[in-house]
Amino acid sequence: MDIIEIGEESFPYIKDPYMFFARRLREGNVFVLIEDGVIGFLDFTVDRNEIKLEGIAVRRDKRGKGYGKILMEFLLSIARQFGARRIYLMTLETNEAANTLYTSFGFTPYKREGPFIWYERYL
Ligand SMILES: CC(C)(COP(=O)(O)OP(=O)(O)OC[C@H]1O[C@@H](n2cnc3c(N)ncnc32)[C@H](O)[C@@H]1OP(=O)(O)O)[C@@H](O)C(=O)NCCC(=O)NCCS
Repeated sequence: MDIIEIGEESFPYIKDPYMFFARRLREGNVFVLIEDGVIGFLDFTVDRNEIKLEGIAVRRDKRGKGYGKILMEFLLSIARQFGARRIYLMTLETNEAANTLYTSFGFTPYKREGPFIWYERYL
């Protein structure tokens, strides 16, 4: 599996996954977790001392085994290396796995926007 396929199964509402992820690979900072093939990825952007997590995904058959935590720990360590003060992101309120993951990493909700919740964490 490659990151476009993982993106496709993780974010089924993205209309043209090939174009979308090809663009993210050009414009974002995409880190890929590899272990016998691609397991998942992180995609984030940096703006001055803030980091926006654009996406995090683990391939479906590898979920629930701690890879999401590894990716989040990596994000925090990269954020510190960048000297970032704040990380923020949004997710669907109905996405229980993501909401629980972010909360367990010390992110707190600060805004609701339709079906989405924005989270932030200061470093
Ligand atoms: C969100 C996602 C990245 C989590 O990855 P994962 O590898 O399954 O997560 P982990 O196994 O490391 O679990 C880490 C923590 O997340 C939470 N979590 C993970 N799956 C969960 C689930 N199905 N329900 C509730 N909480 C869950 C738990 O707090 C868990 O910690 P615990 O095992 O100590 O209880 C994964 O579910 C995914 O790729 N989802 C599709 C894409 C997506 O929704 N991304 C987020 C929006 S951008």
